[in-house]
Amino acid sequence: MMPHRPLPIIAAPMAGGPSTPELVAAVGDAGGMGLLAGGYLTPQRLAEQIAETRDRTVAPFGVNLFVPEEERPDPETLEAYSRALARPASRLGVEPPTVGEYDDDAYPAKLEMLLEDPVAVVSFTFGLPGAETVRRLRRLGTAVVLTVADAEDARCAAALSPDALAVQGTEAGGHRATLAMTNEPNSLGLDELLTQVREVTDLPLIAAGGISTPHRAAEVLRTGAHAVQIGTAYLTTREAGTKAPHRRALLEAAAHGGPGAPTLVTRAFSGRPARALANSFTEEHDAESPAGYPHVHHMTAPLRAAAARADDAQHLNLWAGTGHADCHEESAGELTRRLAAPVLGGI
Ligand SMILES: Cc1cc2nc3c(=O)[nH]c(=O)nc-3n(C[C@H](O)[C@H](O)[C@H](O)COP(=O)(O)O)c2cc1C
Repeated sequence: MMPHRPLPIIAAPMAGGPSTPELVAAVGDAGGMGLLAGGYLTPQRLAEQIAETRDRTVAPFGVNLFVPEEERPDPETLEAYSRALARPASRLGVEPPTVGEYDDDAYPAKLEMLLEDPVAVVSFTFGLPGAETVRRLRRLGTAVVLTVADAEDARCAAALSPDALAVQGTEAGGHRATLAMTNEPNSLGLDELLTQVREVTDLPLIAAGGISTPHRAAEVLRTGAHAVQIGTAYLTTREAGTKAPHRRALLEAAAHGGPGAPTLVTRAFSGRPARALANSFTEEHDAESPAGYPHVHHMTAPLRAAAARADDAQHLNLWAGTGHADCHEESAGELTRRLAAPVLGGI
């Protein structure tokens, strides 16, 4: 069972820095639920973040994990992409990238930790955990959430009997939760996807993608979603660990009003499809970027780190959902209460 919360608002796990214990605790204290992003963290760093969150709040919170890839990308396309990245690497003053390594993101160790020292919710993305993992977590009282982005994936996920599905429409910022890395994501908007997923399961659905205003949150909840999961709008909250050029790019785009700067779904940064603000890096490399997670993620890591050091938003992965023009600078508690204002209910 999903833990009961006064507000049906979930702060999405955002790997790569934005999700912090401070953010997760602030959302929990406001009556919503925050998820720590276990992806990319070492098991030790994740343990520290869990401990820090517990120090900050008594509210329940969750942890998100990346399920390791089963497919291996084609080595030749990876080689070709690494050669293409030599130019931006030299511009940024870093060594030309070599083909990145496969790694499992230390998934087994992080999972073991969550089985030994349970948290309220564990959500999974990029794949499905084993059936025994779902059973073990649930026996410990941990609610299990599986992330999907199409109805067929939802059918496979539902067969594992989790507590809920996180359903991610094409509007969503960051990685799209296709279960197979090489699958091209569909372009179904959240409303249509929720309708399709409801046809294959009665599980509680957590709706994600482009939800950035109280009005839209209320609209989605009225369709019967159990809760809404929101990422981009939290990126500019004070408690988020969003890199300075990313935060600035979002606030600049928001300041221009209207629909905001264009976003695109690109494999250019990680080899998996993810929605980001368009910048010079996506303009130059989107078309040639291969299906190659996690290798491409590792290939571009030194470039992204150099860009962050140089305060250069043009070579950073500026993950953003289609609702990014509503980003404000505010506290995570204020945002949580504001988003929930038109609705009453509980998670
Ligand atoms: C910066 C960023 C990082 C993200 N990282 C993760 C992650 O680690 N795990 C995950 O399941 N989803 C991740 N997501 C996707 C969110 O879970 C969620 O689906 C998405 O933010 C919802 O769309 P929105 O950004 O338009 O609100 C990320 C999203 C963003 C914006």
